[in-house]
Amino acid sequence: MSNYPYQIRSREQYDAAYKRSVEDPEGFWAEVADSFQWHRRWDKVLEWNFTEPKVRWFGGAKLNITENCLDRHLAERGDQPAIIWEPNNPEEDFRVLSYKELHFKVCQFANVLKNNGVKKGDRVCIYMPMVPELAIAVLACARLGIIHSVVFGGFSAQSIADRIQDAQCNLVITSDGGFRGNKEIPLKSVIDDALVQCPSVKKVIVLTRTRVAVSMIKGRDVWWEDEVRKVETQGNPVCPAETMDAEDMLFILYTSGSTGKPKGVVHTCGGYMVFTAYSFVNVFQYQPGDVYFCTADIGWITGHSYIVYGPLAAGATTLMFEGIPTWPDAGRFWDIVDKFKVNILYTAPTAIRSLMGFGLDFVKNKDLGSLKVLGTVGEPINEEAWHWYDENIGKGRCPIVDTWWQTETAGILISNMAGITPGKPAHATLPLPGVQPILVDEKGEELQGNSISGNLCIKFPWPSIIRTTYGDHERCRQTYFATYPNLYFTGDGALRDEVGNYRITGRVDDVLNVSGHRIGTAEVENAINMHTGVVESAVVGYPHEIKGQGIYAYVVFSGGSHDNDLASKDIVQTVARIIGPIAKPDKIQFVKGLPKTRSGKIMRRILRKIAEGELQNLGDTSTLLDPAVVDEIRNGRL
Ligand code: WT7
Repeated sequence: MSNYPYQIRSREQYDAAYKRSVEDPEGFWAEVADSFQWHRRWDKVLEWNFTEPKVRWFGGAKLNITENCLDRHLAERGDQPAIIWEPNNPEEDFRVLSYKELHFKVCQFANVLKNNGVKKGDRVCIYMPMVPELAIAVLACARLGIIHSVVFGGFSAQSIADRIQDAQCNLVITSDGGFRGNKEIPLKSVIDDALVQCPSVKKVIVLTRTRVAVSMIKGRDVWWEDEVRKVETQGNPVCPAETMDAEDMLFILYTSGSTGKPKGVVHTCGGYMVFTAYSFVNVFQYQPGDVYFCTADIGWITGHSYIVYGPLAAGATTLMFEGIPTWPDAGRFWDIVDKFKVNILYTAPTAIRSLMGFGLDFVKNKDLGSLKVLGTVGEPINEEAWHWYDENIGKGRCPIVDTWWQTETAGILISNMAGITPGKPAHATLPLPGVQPILVDEKGEELQGNSISGNLCIKFPWPSIIRTTYGDHERCRQTYFATYPNLYFTGDGALRDEVGNYRITGRVDDVLNVSGHRIGTAEVENAINMHTGVVESAVVGYPHEIKGQGIYAYVVFSGGSHDNDLASKDIVQTVARIIGPIAKPDKIQFVKGLPKTRSGKIMRRILRKIAEGELQNLGDTSTLLDPAVVDEIRNGRL
């Protein structure tokens, strides 16, 4: 008997659950939802249409997700580790927070938030390193019904400012700095730069981490530790959880698309909780007592759903790592696995490829015997990396789950279930129960049968589907629900093999996936164009051995002669300033002009082919305004 009534334990159970979820979705999800704690049960499990779009799961139900992640576990597993934290530097002490301690600290920090004037419905921006206080801050917001917007520590001041302004946040939680490998990241200083543009922010709570010198502005900036001490002297350790509607916003997470600025993807309380816990328990086949390690950062959706909410809602032990895979050396992940006897490891193909490059010296003296299940996420995994992971880390005895999903889906939609449904190298394989993928052609016609490829859409809502893009519902409709009527469009292309396994082949829109991070080409172009010397630019992706995709920029520069090398560096610096280091172009080619049609549209297809090194068959170039630019670009390829 499994500890989770909704845990699927055999292929037959998967088939039955899948069938039921399609025939009776409401009955199916009501049963799963019954395993959680609600203040009030729902009136209606699901109401939906994909035209507005409008999706309501568990309408009328009341809950608080943190009671499900914390309070609910206290009686049975209060002393069990909820979070194990491994610092960047292996010589610093690790920390273990039991469910009891985590509950206590979340309540305490929620009281800090109250003292600082934020309340239900307010938006709070969190910009922190991977320390337990980041999870505590996230959960404290959720406890009070405050909507968190976590911004990854690699984004620039300008990116933070854009996100804070869009959501009109009135409080920021940050730290003095953060450690990553041999670097110290000056988080508070970046926040100070951002806040010059953000009058909505009245308070900044600053955690001590690196104790680098920071400015502390009177009336605005307060230290985390001082505020906690105040709460202690107030003497009330409890903080009752706000009662939330299932469809109240839980958080906003910004993500890039093919056009414009990043949009705030909105997720809500009830459906998100049910689906993240359900998918966590089933895909990874989590068993009570297992130690689970997801190497993502909480600044991305993977960290939200599969470091914090999903595992904690399932009462699991989740390991948080502050550092990077290659410091002090490329054996860091494997040392952590051995140190804490990790049973389930969830990481990104880019990390695997990077560690592969360091050779087996960093693996050979490690035990890794505790591992039972391996997972990957974020981008297609190439077969070579899959086999390396399987043989050298899993020692051929751990199923690998290749989990396909997106910020907008909030949880894993297509994946094998470890040891339950078969994996296949480079294939995400089968949809989870409740998920109804289809492939369509350009016209939106559904492609029937197997051994076909097309654009990946989902035709029925699952509980954690995106509800809106913050402040701009029309943009949500346009981006995801307007390409094909009555379908959620993922932006990905996929194949369905002869037995129905899905293989995700990558984005079919102008979105890049660099080291598992999503970056819009338009966003990078806008940043490049901010550089004084740049007239215009076009950005495309190209295959990169470690990053999956690299960023290739074609730049038209003003003036006659310039120092290419210096200008490149200045452009890279400009992009780092505007977006952040993660969006730095890998290659910059200066060109006299871009290939455009007579109507002025840049022909990206050609640029993509040249960047990929496919210099022949560029396709039809007869509609180009000036076909000669193509030769110039081709000859100057980097
Ligand atoms: C895009 C979503 C899902 C959390 C991390 C990324 C790509 C994601 C896979 C996979 C092939 C994958 C897709 C998707 N992607 N997982 N297992 N196989 N591609 O979240 O930043 O929202 O990016 O990542 O292209 O659309 P995200």
